[in-house]
Amino acid sequence: MEMHIALVPGDGIGPDIVREAVRVLDRIAEIHGHSISYREVDAGGISIDRYKVPLTEDALQTAAESDAVLLGAVGGPKWDHVLGNLRPEKALLGLRSGLGLFCNLRPAVIYPELAAASPLKPSVIAAGVDLLVVRELTGGIYFGEKGRNDDGTSAYDVMRYSKDEIARIARKAFEAARLRKRHVTVVDKANVLETSRLWRETVSEVAAEYGDVSLDFMYVDNASMQLVRNPGHFDVLLTENMFGDILSDEASMITGSIGMLASASLRNDSFGMYEPIHGSAPDIAGMDVANPIATILSAAMMLRYSFSLEKEARAIEDAVASALSDGVRTKDIAADGEEWIGTAACGSEILRRLG
Ligand code: IPM
Ligand code: MG
Repeated sequence: MEMHIALVPGDGIGPDIVREAVRVLDRIAEIHGHSISYREVDAGGISIDRYKVPLTEDALQTAAESDAVLLGAVGGPKWDHVLGNLRPEKALLGLRSGLGLFCNLRPAVIYPELAAASPLKPSVIAAGVDLLVVRELTGGIYFGEKGRNDDGTSAYDVMRYSKDEIARIARKAFEAARLRKRHVTVVDKANVLETSRLWRETVSEVAAEYGDVSLDFMYVDNASMQLVRNPGHFDVLLTENMFGDILSDEASMITGSIGMLASASLRNDSFGMYEPIHGSAPDIAGMDVANPIATILSAAMMLRYSFSLEKEARAIEDAVASALSDGVRTKDIAADGEEWIGTAACGSEILRRLG
């Protein structure tokens, strides 16, 4: 198979970790007889430095012309003073909306070897944590009308959803649930928000097509509590853009493995953008300390979702699992006193296990 991939290393540790994922992809291609071409795209702070904007039209177009995008991370304190529309984060939002990536999958799993890193009590995670946040990514308050009144003393951000936007992400959640434990929890604030009431109504209608998947609804305040009280309750959490932003940080933290978690942003065809859940960690950029595993696992998700290369995706995931069980640790996942290795060495350990 021929794959055309846009690489968006971005800022901070982005280039360090994307480099390792590329080594893994190249090795997989070599073993399984595929060919991969890459085009590098600037986005985020690096683009602000070079072109004065977080995302150029050219960058968006290069990404759009590829089969899939692999992204490192964007942002950092260097650009903290930059205002609203020109912030590095705007590059992410521009890629998501410009590429129509309405469906964000954020799995959160506890790796048994790393369970001690979870901040939750062993009794709370005894049954394991394996959940998937399905976050709506191109609508809601992130993209609604926003502004200030004339004298700047009041401001507004509008949250709006259409039934079509809700139905298409709901279908994605039910499809994902069919490959898991067949349980969808819709997280909303239907006791207060009209958009949430439309979500409940619409998801219930879509649910009729998925009689084999169970469905429940939870208010977002309660859900944030249940995530730390009884994370085992959850299989697929389906939610709107901002709630999904907040809950996916919470979900990833309870696993204690934030350096390990991958994500996919998808639409209805095979195109997708793949990135680690963690940020750009500018304090350790270029120091060969960052954990490349979340990005390597994002590359595996890319092979699975954009190229239907299940066997190859599995091979990467198995190599990561075997490295972990052999005690390979980067600094962030090493227990006190445990030996750890650098970014490139971790990449090499995984490469070695690919065959
Ligand atoms: C995320 C991030 C982004 C978001 C920011 C950087 C705009 O927090 O991907 O979760 O809020 O979506
Ligand atoms: Mg976030």
